Amino acid sequence: MTSLNDTSSAIALLKTRKSASVKAMGEPGPTPEQLKTILEIAVRVPDHGKLTPWRLVLFEGAARQKFGDIIKVRWQKLHPDHGAESLSFQASLFLRAPTVIAVVSKAGPHVKIPEWEQLLSAGALTQNMLLAAAALGVGAQWNTDWIAYDKEIMAAMGLSGSEKIVGFVYLGTPQTALEDRPRPDPESLITRWRG
Ligand SMILES: Cc1cc2nc3c(=O)[nH]c(=O)nc-3n(C[C@H](O)[C@H](O)[C@H](O)COP(=O)(O)O)c2cc1C
Repeated sequence: MTSLNDTSSAIALLKTRKSASVKAMGEPGPTPEQLKTILEIAVRVPDHGKLTPWRLVLFEGAARQKFGDIIKVRWQKLHPDHGAESLSFQASLFLRAPTVIAVVSKAGPHVKIPEWEQLLSAGALTQNMLLAAAALGVGAQWNTDWIAYDKEIMAAMGLSGSEKIVGFVYLGTPQTALEDRPRPDPESLITRWRG
């Protein structure tokens, strides 16, 4: 039995949410109903100017292996000296979780809304996704890795030249108890402005 996040109340959830490492994630992934809920909650996010400056790319089932083949070829080109073990790890990046969602930022120049704010909205969307997953008892982790920054991988995912990967959210069932990490003390981060 894995120890998931405390879903007994909204506050308990928010106070205990933590990631499930993709290194120990397995089947099953979210059900179609759970995925729908996760996405509904994800897009309920502050969005200055209502620009919807983000979109999502879903990887499920055989598509994860198919994309893994593309990752493998690219990795081989970048690191011709790497051996079979390294190649096979890269090829299976998306196989580590049943569902992988790429969050894509479409942020760009706008007459009123700074690009920075559009990007922040995509970050908030991603965090909403983690919270929704936690509330449903679904394990989730937000990762980037080199594939989030490689132009050829991004193109293979269908991204335009101006789009950016905010992250990949890996969703599945934790295979081990969730590990927390020390959290910053908010007091230590506050400066009280007194003029
Ligand atoms: C934008 C972004 C990218 C990240 N990329 C990675 C990554 O590639 N690999 C990794 O192990 N963790 C990555 N992390 C960290 C994890 O998502 C997460 O912070 C960590 O697993 C535990 O933190 P939590 O329990 O507070 O969620 C990233 C976090 C952010 C915000």
